[in-house]
Amino acid sequence: MKLTIIGSGYVGLTTGACFAEAGHHVLCVDNDPKKVETLLAGEIPIYEPGLESLVKKNVAARRLRFTTATEEGVEHGEVLFIAVPTPPQPDGSVDLSFIEKVAREIAVHLGSYRVIVDKSTVPVKTGERVASTIRRYAKPGVEFDVVSNPEFLREGSAVEDLMKPDRIVIGGNSDRALALMQKIYEPFVAPVLVTDINSAELIKHAANSFLALKISYINAISEICEMSGADVLKVAEGIGTDKRIGRAFLNAGLGYGGSCFPKDIAAFIAISRQLGTPFTLLEEVQRINEHQFQRFLDGIREALWVLKEKKLAVWGLAFKPNTDDVRSSVAIRVVEALVAEGAEVTAYDPKAMDKARLLPVASKIKLASSPLEAATGAEALIIATEWAEFASVDLSDLREVMRTPLIFDGRNLLDPVAAADFGFQYRGIGRGAVVERS
Ligand code: UDX
Repeated sequence: MKLTIIGSGYVGLTTGACFAEAGHHVLCVDNDPKKVETLLAGEIPIYEPGLESLVKKNVAARRLRFTTATEEGVEHGEVLFIAVPTPPQPDGSVDLSFIEKVAREIAVHLGSYRVIVDKSTVPVKTGERVASTIRRYAKPGVEFDVVSNPEFLREGSAVEDLMKPDRIVIGGNSDRALALMQKIYEPFVAPVLVTDINSAELIKHAANSFLALKISYINAISEICEMSGADVLKVAEGIGTDKRIGRAFLNAGLGYGGSCFPKDIAAFIAISRQLGTPFTLLEEVQRINEHQFQRFLDGIREALWVLKEKKLAVWGLAFKPNTDDVRSSVAIRVVEALVAEGAEVTAYDPKAMDKARLLPVASKIKLASSPLEAATGAEALIIATEWAEFASVDLSDLREVMRTPLIFDGRNLLDPVAAADFGFQYRGIGRGAVVERS
């Protein structure tokens, strides 16, 4: 089928590449000429495992093309996917101006029947707005349908999540549009859930908030574990093996970050308030997430007393492993907080150094070229992202290079007993007090 994706960011680019891989003829539109130029040159602006080869392969097969012209996109695709940013506003609600602008642009170029699909994460009832906007700006009598088809991909495993999704959600109220959508997804082996537009939009916000709720739940338990001497990893295993609960997203740590959860939870709270039914449980999810971060910093302050002039190593800058994305990264927040208190920070991340270099805090820290280099001379090591590379660092080498053997493991990456055996004072999350072998 001929498909158009408007917006070549994380979701748009990966969706376009995966649709092309499934045999569709995809035209990706982006209003940033530089980005389009980069993509046409076969370069990918983000680090995402498997994406670059997929893009190259499908560009070579002529199933994937890029342009800056929306008109060309509207002409090309039977189905037009909107995958533009939906950034947060200061009050937590979503800025839908990019979606509205694209809806108007599509409308003025609409000739024959098209299906317009909302792929971006949007608050419930946005589809209705998109439909009424297009109706207002399109030539009279032009036929179109609006569909909601939320994306559930995770950064770091985006290609796999798209090629082998748990489920495909399609929200719409026209049989003609739904039939085309089902045809697009025929090559993908996954259960398809067909709903009305509002339910599909709500599914996305409800899914992300439930996952964030699980994280805050285990983080709240982690504090109780610390106060009582229990081990949160054992508790997570003990409750996670219950099939009704599940082990996924029960990793206690520094809290959730990234470009989705913080924004989506705030947006869901905002829309629930606008609808007159405030979702106060999610406010508590946010509060626990912030408290967890502050608790971690308090632990560092408590152990080091004064942070000013302390040499601290930070492992990890990306908001999670297997990505170079530093947007709303808790690791970056940790670095910022330490720098604000006068600490001398040296940081290392396997993939996110280039993106981190562009942040204001980069000028106030040193960036090392390996985990051991970052730790050399450090008075404490802070693990902020759970990259596999960090788990394989030789602890005796680490002990050798550090000035004082103190580890704050914000992601429970290391084994506390092994760390203690190598002479470290170790503090994880929800794993009792500082472990110290005498
Ligand atoms: C998320 C959703 O998983 C995805 O379905 C949606 O489409 C976009 O938002 P993503 O932001 O890429 O994906 O990452 P995810 O793996 O969900 O992690 C989000 C945050 O939660 C990260 O900061 C991660 O460190 C944190 N997290 C995750 C935990 O703290 N504990 C966990 O057990 C899992």
